[in-house]
Amino acid sequence: MISTCMATILRVTRQALVIRSSLSQYRRLSSSSMLIEQEKYSWLKQLGLSTENKGVFNGEWGGRGEVVSSMCPSNGETIAKLTQGSVEDYRDTVQKAKAAWDIWADVPAPKRGEIVRQIGHALREKVDLLGALVSLEMGKIKPEGVGEVQEYIDVCDYAVGLSRMFAGRVLPSERPGHALLEQWNPLGLVGIITAFNFPVAVYGWNSSIALTCGNVCIWKGAPTTPLVSVAITKIIQSVFEANNLPAAICSLVQGGTDVGQAMATDTNINLLSFTGSTPVGNVVGTTVQQRFGKVLLELGGNNAIIVLDDADLDMVVRSALFACVGTAGQRCTTTRRLILHESVHDEVVSRLKKAYSQVPMGDPLDDGVLYGPMHSQQGVDLYNKAIEDAKAQGGKVEYGGKVVDRPGYYVEPTIVTGLPHDAEVVHRETFAPIVYALKTKSMEEAIAWNNEVKQGLSSSIFTGNLGNVFKWIGPKGSDCGIVNVNIPTSGAEIGGAFGGEKHTGGGRESGSDAWKQYMRRATCTINYGKELPLAQGIKFGE
Ligand code: UN1
Repeated sequence: MISTCMATILRVTRQALVIRSSLSQYRRLSSSSMLIEQEKYSWLKQLGLSTENKGVFNGEWGGRGEVVSSMCPSNGETIAKLTQGSVEDYRDTVQKAKAAWDIWADVPAPKRGEIVRQIGHALREKVDLLGALVSLEMGKIKPEGVGEVQEYIDVCDYAVGLSRMFAGRVLPSERPGHALLEQWNPLGLVGIITAFNFPVAVYGWNSSIALTCGNVCIWKGAPTTPLVSVAITKIIQSVFEANNLPAAICSLVQGGTDVGQAMATDTNINLLSFTGSTPVGNVVGTTVQQRFGKVLLELGGNNAIIVLDDADLDMVVRSALFACVGTAGQRCTTTRRLILHESVHDEVVSRLKKAYSQVPMGDPLDDGVLYGPMHSQQGVDLYNKAIEDAKAQGGKVEYGGKVVDRPGYYVEPTIVTGLPHDAEVVHRETFAPIVYALKTKSMEEAIAWNNEVKQGLSSSIFTGNLGNVFKWIGPKGSDCGIVNVNIPTSGAEIGGAFGGEKHTGGGRESGSDAWKQYMRRATCTINYGKELPLAQGIKFGE
């Protein structure tokens, strides 16, 4: 009896000990359950981040919305937490941003350019840390994270020059004593909604140009990359404060669909720049149009590389590798279709398979890694669905096709052959590292296939023939916004206008004359004489 009692006591004690030790393990785990608390990631604090962050900035930091965890795609762990903004926070922010506009619009354009120069300088000082944060939170490899911050810095430089150059024209008037001229004025308040895949660069393109043109901005970054938005906004805040300007000029409201909808319907937003999927862009575009607001859309792409029989195949393989596998297939400019001349099809596919097998996969923050995870489980699900559909529609998986068995959201980069050029899955944009190789007989057929999809973002041809080049960029060539020759579809410079046609939305951001979209043009006819001649020579009551 006693021994039974003792045995029970011992068992209970042992159980208690087990429970206690697993509890302390749990406590240890939960106390270090956020990556930011671990020594390895303590550098995040140098960007002003902490365990609990605020997702609204309008001169002051706040937020009364949902608390969300920012997840690391390479291991599925929480990096840190953030309190999002509510619609009420958004409305308050609009008032503060509009009040800031009163001051900002009076700052001469070259002085605004000087502020943007300082933002670029502040970013330069933290380019490495910011690149690492992009890598940690988005999942792209660190050199691409740094590259994206560099894209923001480059567009700041561009905007500084622009601040002394953008100009209206003085046109010849048909009337004596009259001047005919164009005056460009800022729109006022620009809303910027960006996507997870380029959480820095796309905001940089929009905000630098919008600011230079004399606008104030409210940014809603992707809900899954909130820490990047906070770190960038803190840097901008420091620049405005150092110049005694209201920091609400660049406000931030991290939030969900409710905030996005509020922005789309809000007549206070003079231009809404939206980057994201075509279906969501369609809703945003029609909502803004209903109130006759201005909208700038950067939506999906279904980008093709055409390889003709005279192409340099070394360049083709290197370009296709970067454009198909880079960023784990999550650029809007990623190559999704390879349209290969029948004489080079097999060789390109076999060389690409070899190249794919040599791509180092791993933690995107580690040196030498070229291929990281997908951003989220949602991306993995889309990948699986596309592979399944590709097989069902007659495709052969030449390389990859499977989810990788390791923590985080890793999938194999994938090449599929044998599908008809117009298979449903080929015409669908799957935001994942899957490329469909198609066999073509001629350049004419290849161009027709390039153009037959609904999207119209980026395109590329590989050829050594000058006649082909000019046909490709001419009226019967590619119908995309980006039309390249002997380079990949992805990796555009900031100096050109970035965007695409058809279901890509028609918007143009970044360089060239994209600034015009952030301004309103007034055509001014000024009579400095003593007569009142009418245009077209009309005599009225004389
Ligand atoms: C995007 O994928 O949303 O051309 C932007 C590129 C980059 C920008 C991509 N400069 O690939």
